[in-house]
Amino acid sequence: QDVEKGGYPHYMLKEIMEQPYALAQTFSSLQTQDLSEVLKILENARRIYVVAAGTSYHASLLGAIAFRRFLGVDAEALISSEFRVVSRVVKWGDVVIGVSQSGETIDTLLALREARERGAKTVAIVNNPFSTIARESDYVVSMRAGPEIAVAATKTFTSQVLTLLYIIAKLAEKSSAINVDSKAMIHGIKMSYEIAEKALSVSQGKAMAVANKLFQKHSAYYLGRVFGVPIAMEGALKLKEIAYIHAEAYPAGESKHGPIALVDKDYPVIFIYIGFLDELIEGNIEEMKAREAWIATIAPENMVRGSIEKYSNVVIEMPRAPLETRLITYAIPLQLIAYYTATLKGLDPDKPRNLAKTVTVI
Ligand code: G6P
Repeated sequence: QDVEKGGYPHYMLKEIMEQPYALAQTFSSLQTQDLSEVLKILENARRIYVVAAGTSYHASLLGAIAFRRFLGVDAEALISSEFRVVSRVVKWGDVVIGVSQSGETIDTLLALREARERGAKTVAIVNNPFSTIARESDYVVSMRAGPEIAVAATKTFTSQVLTLLYIIAKLAEKSSAINVDSKAMIHGIKMSYEIAEKALSVSQGKAMAVANKLFQKHSAYYLGRVFGVPIAMEGALKLKEIAYIHAEAYPAGESKHGPIALVDKDYPVIFIYIGFLDELIEGNIEEMKAREAWIATIAPENMVRGSIEKYSNVVIEMPRAPLETRLITYAIPLQLIAYYTATLKGLDPDKPRNLAKTVTVI
């Protein structure tokens, strides 16, 4: 088993550390797949739904924001077990993308089946091309990020984000109407494996410092704006899953409408600052500091200034990189924070209580 863990104490850490390799694999696998049919149906889609559960849902949320922001298309991410909220309106001409690491999550499978019955086209983004979801979908995009053993998803999340952004970049390339530099976008996506490598080495010590604070706490906030929101949600989910600490993610601008009531001296607040459409986070950091919160901020190294610099107890400085690269790699320090917090609490992050890697019951 130690050999399988590649010398790491846990599968989770091994899988976090192998993200540069997994991202490179996913990128080259996407380049060898014939995506022309998938791109054609997406290009002509009336509306795009991205359905998923758990971590895959967070990747889907990020993907849906990117569809809207970069392509200006109507896209929405939905939790697969809640798909019926839209089932009356899904129809022919719509495309439903199911995102699933295992390709076996029953709720996602059922949502895709329902979508198909209603005449929509379905696309599966999976790590296992032989899975049920892949077999039952009209089109399959395969990630080939390699097997993921730890219950908490890590490398499959970053590969899912990469895959969704790659599809979006390819769609942008096809359309002259879209004001997106698709070449630069593909370059940014490709760079993610190098930046992931750097991010892993620069963030380890700082992630440990955050974990040293969190492991004594019962609750924490993860705040971001726009693209930072799904990343914050993923960070909070990781902490809950393996460190059993209540963590909640919120759009930072919404924190004054309730969440801030809980914040008092030393309350941990983790900010995800992407550096794109989220400059107002500076004000949110100030608000939290005024309540004497304990603040950690993840930010691009070239954008650490103002209240980020002044009020954060810890700043995790991410390598300077294009936006797409940042979107793919910003979950990495959050995965490390959760991992170190769990181990400081003496927990086994590979086997969290009550959770299963693949959920095939409704
Ligand atoms: C379970 C796992 C999660 C995963 C979710 C969705 O809850 O513990 O790590 O994100 O299922 O799984 P999928 O295989 O569909 O991505």
